[in-house]
Amino acid sequence: MSPEDDKESPEKAFASNTSLHGFNRIASSPGGSPRVLWVIAILGSYTGFGYMFGSMMASYFKYDTITDTTLEFADELLFPAVTICNMNKFDSDKLQVADWSYLSLFLYGIQADIPTILALGMQPDETVNSTMTGVKIEDLVLAKGFNLSSNRMPLCLWRGAYCSEQNFTHSFGHYGNCYTFNADADNQLKQTTEGAHGNGFTAFVDIKEDKYTESFLVSGNAEVGLKLLVHDPREPPMMDTQGIALAPGNHAFIAIKQILYENHVPPWGVCKDLQLEYYDTYTLNGCYLECRSKHVVRNCSCRPYDLPGTAPSCDPRTMFTCVRAVLAQVITGDLKCDCPVPCRMTSYSTSLSFAGFPNKHTRNYLAPLLGMEPGYMADNGVVFSVFYEKLNYQKIRQLKAMDEGQLSSNIGGMMGLFLGASVLSLLEVCEYLLKRLLGFLGRTRNAGVFHVQTQEPKSATEKKALN
Ligand SMILES: *[C@@H]1O[C@H](CO)[C@@H](O)[C@H](O)[C@H]1NC(C)=O
Ligand SMILES: *[C@@H]1O[C@H](CO)[C@@H](O)[C@H](O)[C@H]1NC(C)=O
Ligand SMILES: *[C@@H]1O[C@H](CO)[C@@H](O)[C@H](O)[C@H]1NC(C)=O
Ligand SMILES: *[C@@H]1O[C@H](CO)[C@@H](O)[C@H](O)[C@H]1NC(C)=O
Repeated sequence: MSPEDDKESPEKAFASNTSLHGFNRIASSPGGSPRVLWVIAILGSYTGFGYMFGSMMASYFKYDTITDTTLEFADELLFPAVTICNMNKFDSDKLQVADWSYLSLFLYGIQADIPTILALGMQPDETVNSTMTGVKIEDLVLAKGFNLSSNRMPLCLWRGAYCSEQNFTHSFGHYGNCYTFNADADNQLKQTTEGAHGNGFTAFVDIKEDKYTESFLVSGNAEVGLKLLVHDPREPPMMDTQGIALAPGNHAFIAIKQILYENHVPPWGVCKDLQLEYYDTYTLNGCYLECRSKHVVRNCSCRPYDLPGTAPSCDPRTMFTCVRAVLAQVITGDLKCDCPVPCRMTSYSTSLSFAGFPNKHTRNYLAPLLGMEPGYMADNGVVFSVFYEKLNYQKIRQLKAMDEGQLSSNIGGMMGLFLGASVLSLLEVCEYLLKRLLGFLGRTRNAGVFHVQTQEPKSATEKKALN
């Protein structure tokens, strides 16, 4: 007999030596019912494993998520940007006759020429003979709207130190001129102790309610006050749909809380960071503003003064006849914006409380020092303080309900429980299959009459041995 014939068949070698439980039992059991029982037990185990494997795969490919909320405590927190707008685009005392005529359709829905304006009792000025060709609406808003020069903001404090209009960044919004405190995302201010007193950001703004030129019936508003939004400095403010409104005659205490969101990419979540054209960071507000701008440019061939873009600025007539309708359709959802949720975002929740302002002493002694009538402050003064009440923040993370590591350890556990198998056992199976394949190839190549002949008696003796 050749050494070849001496070797056991690959099946027998595999069954006797494998680390998979049970097979060596079949190979070594004396036959009859114990072997049948072992075969049944092995089949049962493999069925159990198949079922568990299937259900684990199914639950992995459902891509379920769980939400993890943690409260993190910190020694200092980055202070957010605070944007304020007066609810008034133009101050009436800064508008001249020609401006009134130019803006009349935009502000009141009626086109009034200069003689009509004069007939309404306006004093003629040097602009009565001028035409407003080439004047852009944003230049008018900037020059004749709300600004923060000293008489409009008698007090501005950051952690007890005075600040001024130089610490604000200008932007255009739905309400005209808006000013953002702490707008530099690379150089954010920090709050290091909790609470309001002497902390955070406090300002007193004179809204000049008798200079309001807004009309609710066209595209303006009927309110008087300040709109304020606390936001991430990387995110442009959207003052018409977000923010809180503050009324004169109050001191608003705005306690803020930071919430960080981490969302998951598909297929677990829906987040996606797009590349925006006019903003560095992808944010929902940035996306909505660009979307509004695109819809208006497509239908009106111009860009509203408060939206990003490079199209020429819309004149007051187009603002009234076209832009208003398109923006209304965007807001009602008839014109769609495709803005997915960003994968990371920071938002701020606010809780407000109010105190009356001013008190008797301030009214009677401080107001005259600021050149104000005693009753003026209550009608025009908006005071607000923005601060972290607690130096902690909330982190809301979307996590995979089952990640790849958990999936493989679950499968490993089930393999151990049902099969007694590991990755190395799989290698044994592979080794066996490889031997079988090589044997098969060798047989067919050697045109194996001889092999077939030697194979027969060998398998016969093998059968005998097994029995
Ligand atoms: C405007 O034009 C009228 C008539 O041409 C002239 O009498 C008047 O002085 C002009 N007013 C100004 C401010 O230039
Ligand atoms: C703000 O408005 C006042 C008039 O109310 C004006 O004198 C001042 O120059 C304006 N400041 C800026 C920065 O435009
Ligand atoms: C405000 O601006 C002034 C001048 O640029 C600067 O010295 C100061 O640090 C700023 N204050 C804050 C709170 O940013
Ligand atoms: C776009 O403009 C056309 C004509 O200018 C108008 O019929 C259509 O309603 C406008 N669409 C929107 C969404 O305003």
